[in-house]
Amino acid sequence: MKMTVIGCGYLGATHAACMAELGHDVLGVDVDAAKIEMLASGSVPFFEPGLDDVVRRNIAAGRLRFTTDFTEAAAFGKIHFIGVGTPQQAASDAADLTALRTAVRELVGHLRGRHLIVGKSTVPVGTCVELADEIAALTRNNGSIELAWNPEFLREGFAVDDTLRPDRIVVGTDPRRADSTAASTLAAVYREILDGGTPYLTMDWATAELVKVSANAFLATKISFINAISEICEVAGGDVTALADAIGHDARIGRRFLNAGLGFGGGCLPKDIRAFAARADELGVGSALSFLRAVDEVNMRRRAALVAMVERACDGSVLGRNIAVLGAAFKPESDDIRDSPALAVAAQLSLRGARVTVFDPKAMDNARRVFPTLRFADSAVAAARAADAVIVATEWAEFVHMAPAELTDTVSRRLIIDARRCLDGRAWADAGWDYRALGTAGAGSSQVITHVVSATEERESMV
Ligand code: UDX
Repeated sequence: MKMTVIGCGYLGATHAACMAELGHDVLGVDVDAAKIEMLASGSVPFFEPGLDDVVRRNIAAGRLRFTTDFTEAAAFGKIHFIGVGTPQQAASDAADLTALRTAVRELVGHLRGRHLIVGKSTVPVGTCVELADEIAALTRNNGSIELAWNPEFLREGFAVDDTLRPDRIVVGTDPRRADSTAASTLAAVYREILDGGTPYLTMDWATAELVKVSANAFLATKISFINAISEICEVAGGDVTALADAIGHDARIGRRFLNAGLGFGGGCLPKDIRAFAARADELGVGSALSFLRAVDEVNMRRRAALVAMVERACDGSVLGRNIAVLGAAFKPESDDIRDSPALAVAAQLSLRGARVTVFDPKAMDNARRVFPTLRFADSAVAAARAADAVIVATEWAEFVHMAPAELTDTVSRRLIIDARRCLDGRAWADAGWDYRALGTAGAGSSQVITHVVSATEERESMV
């Protein structure tokens, strides 16, 4: 089948490449000429494991092309996926739909005959109705263009796998449209995936829009729940990782997304919970989602708690201290630094007078661009040179598996702060390090250290 994918960021580029991988003829479209040029030459402008291979393979097979030209897109096929960004507005918590509206308007202006537009971006409930009205106005109500919403649940770092082997496919269609063919067309697009047993869930627009934001709100709540409990553990002396293991055995709760630490960041969860709460406010039911404010606050407090912990470990002030921050990406296996907890903490420490040196295996260029005042080193060892404290802020495998001996002769003080509760604390303590984990009272106690190992194992088994 022939289709376009409009917007070639993390979501769109992955979707375009994966649709081609399924055997479709795909044209990726973006207004950013530099991005399109890179993709067309087979290189992905961001780090996403395995995506380069899929892009290159499908360009070579003639199934994947890229353009900036909407006229070409309109003439290319009858199915158009939209995967443009819907970031947080500059002056409010609501989502900024400018790119989405522009993309739809631009595309519709060039379409002739019957077409299906399929939104994948995360949007506030009610967006489909609004876009459909605009499409109707642009096409003089001739009904030639159908709009469906097909939210994307991919995680960065696992984007290819999540797209080709999703947990479910959700399709929302116009409840007022009797001649709707969107669900059957999309079932044909995803035939190979559906034949593998993936559930195919069709519903109305509003439900589909809500499914995505509800899923992200639930995940964010789960993370903040365990981080709130970790605040209690810090003062009461409990071990939040052992606790998460114990409650996670209850199948109703589940162990995944219960890793306490520095909290969530990235381009989705933070802005999605804010936009969801803002939309509930607009709908007059703000109190229904007032708990999401608490979720956000718990999450942000983790960053402040880490800064306070580092200050305490440095005898009350980080002024003039050398601090190594290992990790800049908001999570491992990504170079995405949007709302990265690691960089938020690095910047805070720097503002308090510390000399902060950051190392990340993949996110260095992005981090340098956004935080030019931080120092950057080209390895963990180089970042830790003469450090008074080393902070593991993103749980990259190379940090998780780092032997303490690699840093022992480099640092000026053997203090390691495990902000993701991902290290083998016993190994660090045995090697003569002062090991402290965020979310733990009296760091260094044997009880705490025993269970840090199981958190690492859990995280590995999760992925
Ligand atoms: C998320 C959703 O998982 C995905 O379904 C949606 O499509 C987009 O938003 P992503 O932002 O790629 O995906 O990352 P995710 O793996 O969900 O992690 C989000 C953040 O939560 C990261 O900063 C991560 O470090 C943090 N996290 C995750 C925790 O702090 N603890 C956990 O137990 C799990």
